[in-house]
Amino acid sequence: MTNSTIGLIGLGTMGAMLALNIAEKGFPIAVWNRTTAVTHQFKAEAGALAPMITPTETLAELVAAIKPPRAIILMVPAGEAVDQQIAALRPLMAADDLIIDAGNALFHDTNRRSADAQTLGPHFMGIGVSGGEEGARHGPAIMGGGLRQDWDRVAPVLNAIAAKYQGVPCADFMGPAGAGHFVKAVHNGIEYADMQMIAEVYGVMRDGMGMTAAEISQTLHGWNKGPLQSYLIEISAEVAGATDKHSGKPMLDMILDRAGQKGTGRWTVIEAQHLAATIPAIEAAVMARNLSSRLPERLAGQAVFGAAPQAMAKSTLTLAQLEQAMIAGKILCYAQGFALISAASAAFDWPMPLPEIARVWREGCIIRSSMLNDMATALTEDPARNLMLAPFFAEHLKATHGALRQTIAAGALHGLPLPALASGLAWFDMMRTGRSTANMIQAQRDFFGAHGFERIDGLDDKHGPWSGHGI
Ligand code: 6PG
Repeated sequence: MTNSTIGLIGLGTMGAMLALNIAEKGFPIAVWNRTTAVTHQFKAEAGALAPMITPTETLAELVAAIKPPRAIILMVPAGEAVDQQIAALRPLMAADDLIIDAGNALFHDTNRRSADAQTLGPHFMGIGVSGGEEGARHGPAIMGGGLRQDWDRVAPVLNAIAAKYQGVPCADFMGPAGAGHFVKAVHNGIEYADMQMIAEVYGVMRDGMGMTAAEISQTLHGWNKGPLQSYLIEISAEVAGATDKHSGKPMLDMILDRAGQKGTGRWTVIEAQHLAATIPAIEAAVMARNLSSRLPERLAGQAVFGAAPQAMAKSTLTLAQLEQAMIAGKILCYAQGFALISAASAAFDWPMPLPEIARVWREGCIIRSSMLNDMATALTEDPARNLMLAPFFAEHLKATHGALRQTIAAGALHGLPLPALASGLAWFDMMRTGRSTANMIQAQRDFFGAHGFERIDGLDDKHGPWSGHGI
């Protein structure tokens, strides 16, 4: 009965796929689901992997089926359900057993659960798992947080099931407590921004250039062979090329333009605000999803002002410029994401390993792309330097920011909203402005609130000649 290497709770899509992946890699696994019928059906449908799977009907049976010290993966919806599951397991598990939350938890919750585990036991880890259903089944990227020795204990299983980049597992330890879930949240923030930028260039092609879905698909397929090679470009090319079986029209044209979200992108933005980290492309992406869901308001706006997007003259912008704009935007959005992790490392005193994060993201996860290998190299050279300053990416940006500028200018003139790309460019320009306009902000603050300012000549005179005029 006690022969399983590991246990898993929650046989929803992701949990079931992860369990099959674990079984396939040769680790006997005990599984439990709230609905027992689901557990038995899972085993019945596991085919050749069935002998590796022990279905259990109670939590006590599950715990008894695992070799001590035990490790149990939770694959239940983030939030309350995780706390309930931990509370139910705690009396059944030994102090040195381990619960691993592999859902998309808010990292503050993981911090709290890690702290509770220290006093109440058993051990607790939070791991970020990316790659969707396919990734869970055949190799996700895994970002671990908790105690190093707990990671080391389960690393053989996690490394085995993770995606591989040239044979190297895309799984690593990110730091204490909620570090794994924090890195996963930033991954999702970048995911939102990358997806939004692709949606924006799609809009330029569709509404500005008048291209058909098939032409857009072909263009994206072409981009996927160059510097933009990535999972998100690849699937975007595929969806643009798909046909709706009901109407015979391009599938994309039949999909309502209201984007959903489970909240991880929003968490990233909120955390960036707490840390005063600057991630405008990610913020713009979250904003765009929020605004997309306000369809009645958008229709009211259209009724008053007319539809925004207008077709461009052929000479306005080339597809090559658009591709370069996307390259620049992508570098800037990743640079923002890594800078956020850097800020969090310092603020939380978590030494999160930036080069390893880039390495873990090279395969398996949703934002996997060929650029991540170059990012890993750049971050290895100097983890403290902003990615946009690394020579490799600085050269790329020098070569492409002009096209980003052209694209945004064309978008502005033709009513094509490009919030993520435009905020990426504004950030880039601010990041290379030695003399900004914040002197005006300081003067205003001093005028109305006598807040004082620093002088460029170092003189110790903190107030302007307007002192006393404030309210
Ligand atoms: C991943 C994804 C995944 C994400 C869902 C839904 O890395 O596999 O990021 O974890 O949570 O795809 O995300 P939204 O509903 O927020 O778009």
